Amino acid sequence: MRTQVGIVGAGPAGLMLSHLLHLRGIESVVLESRSRADVEGTIRAGVLEQNTVDLLVETGVGDRVKREGHQHKGIELRFGGVGHRIDFDALTGGRAVTVYPQHEVLVDLIERRLADGGDIRFGSTVTAVEGVTGDAPLIRFTDASGAEETLHCELVLGADGSRTTTRGLVPETTVRTDHAKQYPFAWFGILAEAPPSSDELIYANHENGFALISTRTDTVQRHYLQVDPTDTVDDWSDDRIWSELHTRVDGEGAQIKDGRIFSKTVLGFRSFVCEPMQYGRLFLAGDAAHTVPPTGAKGLNLAVADVYVLAKAMARYFATGEKDQLDAYSATALPRVWRAQHFSWWMTSMLHRMPGAGGFDHRRQLAELDVVTRSVAGRTLLAENYVGTPLF
Ligand code: DHB
Repeated sequence: MRTQVGIVGAGPAGLMLSHLLHLRGIESVVLESRSRADVEGTIRAGVLEQNTVDLLVETGVGDRVKREGHQHKGIELRFGGVGHRIDFDALTGGRAVTVYPQHEVLVDLIERRLADGGDIRFGSTVTAVEGVTGDAPLIRFTDASGAEETLHCELVLGADGSRTTTRGLVPETTVRTDHAKQYPFAWFGILAEAPPSSDELIYANHENGFALISTRTDTVQRHYLQVDPTDTVDDWSDDRIWSELHTRVDGEGAQIKDGRIFSKTVLGFRSFVCEPMQYGRLFLAGDAAHTVPPTGAKGLNLAVADVYVLAKAMARYFATGEKDQLDAYSATALPRVWRAQHFSWWMTSMLHRMPGAGGFDHRRQLAELDVVTRSVAGRTLLAENYVGTPLF
């Protein structure tokens, strides 16, 4: 088998690159170890930056996000039992975010790739990637029927998520530096059949820990609680979850609405960046290259920004043979990655309770939230980064 770009992973980065390349007349094959049902059914975060929505719409895959996504023109930061609105519309000149679950973006991209004759191999496990420092890389994989196949290509995208194997092809220490930060907590995520508790997302700082009120539809809500990283779903009964959500969020202008919980998950929490994001003809994008903690919902948006840069650089390479933009990929993409790292870390540090933190730490946090929400400059800084700065 032969193609121009071999793509490992059918997540946001892999599928979006395949789509953007197709629009520029470049062929790719996407290899994905999971089944289509698994990819399309795994629940992830749900906030799309304005840039991401614009790119989906401009490239012809935005009909459903426009129709079914919920535009949010602000969020509420809640602390000391009082809500403070961050008005994106006024602070960013009319920009907004859209609540539309990540797996729905994947459904839309897969449908479009297949309609355009795209080649996505679900159930295909990559066993080796060879020759990325030469001119003729190849990807060995076992397909869904168990047959061994070889895909020859000119460029390789490693977009296989945070449990990536492609990142390991970049030699550690001599070429690659990993920057990682752990956090002493996790998020407990639920989906519940209930009416929305609020028109906009609520990010709540409370002495018991952080809580986030989000939404999916008029009848399904998505909420998160800061928990101990060793907690499991069995530690949290429905009663305990609702009681804790009420404690952390209810107050002036907010009252959480209970419902039947039908999904519980514990989400890991980590900041990570691998530098560089290129090794010869291998390019890393999305979680294969970097992970953000979920506060701020930057993960999918960063993956899309990475491949936006790569699609242009790859198009230039295939049209002219020039590798300058390809070789500038890390330098082009990393400043945005680090800005998103800073924003996600900042939101996390401002809103979560650090284990062992005392009265001073909590009061300092409240003062920071007060500084940010009281000042137009503070609110603007938060709003600009939340809705996302222009792509490049
Ligand atoms: C959601 C997830 C986030 O990480 C966030 O910051 C906001 C919303 C969500 O899944 O709805």
